[in-house]
Amino acid sequence: MTVSTEPRHSPKKVTIPALVAMRARREAAVFVTAYDYPTAVFADRAGVDLILVGDSAAMTVLGHPNTLSITMTEMLVFARAVARGAERAFVVGDLPFLSYQVSSQDAVRNAGAFVAAGCDAVKCEGGARVASRVRAIADAGIAVMGHLGLTPQAIGQQGGYRVQGKTLEAARAVLADAIALRDAGAFAILLEALPAAAAAFVRERLDIPVYGIGAGPHLDGQLVISHDILGSFVGNIHPRFVRRFANLDLETTGAFRAYAEAVRGGTFPAAEQCYAIDADEERAIQEARCTGAQPARRGRIHA
Ligand code: KIV
Repeated sequence: MTVSTEPRHSPKKVTIPALVAMRARREAAVFVTAYDYPTAVFADRAGVDLILVGDSAAMTVLGHPNTLSITMTEMLVFARAVARGAERAFVVGDLPFLSYQVSSQDAVRNAGAFVAAGCDAVKCEGGARVASRVRAIADAGIAVMGHLGLTPQAIGQQGGYRVQGKTLEAARAVLADAIALRDAGAFAILLEALPAAAAAFVRERLDIPVYGIGAGPHLDGQLVISHDILGSFVGNIHPRFVRRFANLDLETTGAFRAYAEAVRGGTFPAAEQCYAIDADEERAIQEARCTGAQPARRGRIHA
């Protein structure tokens, strides 16, 4: 199969009004994470609508056991690379742990740093308890997305990566948080690891786009972690909601193995990987190689 590298969608930049219009048309938005320039370019070419520069980078690319230790400095490196690669997709920068919880001043300053890095919006985790931060960010003119349900920065409180909203009461609590975020100025909500019915219950009662990751099909769009769908996540977490669309782990290991065999077997580099020179010069060098080829001793220069 030949895969085209040409854009398949209108090259027009995705904006919040465009996302709102998609929700009105019941057109599912396609949302993936990316942390580097090539992935952002490939996702953009594929017509992805939104890209999250997620703090999941802590686990997917930095090898940490959870998302808690990634810093603003690290996140901004990823954000700049993705923003350079995403011409059409709407780019959301993920505010890392402790970049917005401590004060509204921190929240605005750090959200602003993502915008300066080229992001179109930021995302933060938590409900009513972060509404004042969402309000401060929105009042600074920065678009902000809320994140409810399983919130990995609260892994300690939630007791691990667990499904949330499993009862009507719990679904109502998620809805109350979503309304608090909407009223504080959030332009969209992301629901993580919620039963499909609970997520639909929340979406139907909100008038802003509601996206999901592991929250069923009845939402305004689907987010996946790119390493999960590409098969390149190295770790022991296997959420039920992950479906592999490629096996980059096998592809990559196989390519390194083939390269190692070629180097060890002397088939790489071959003639086509070597620089050609004028035939007379090559002959002269070859002749010089055959006469008096001895390793230069320290302090002596051999012509
Ligand atoms: O960082 C991230 O990728 C996220 C998703 C898991 C929702 O926040």
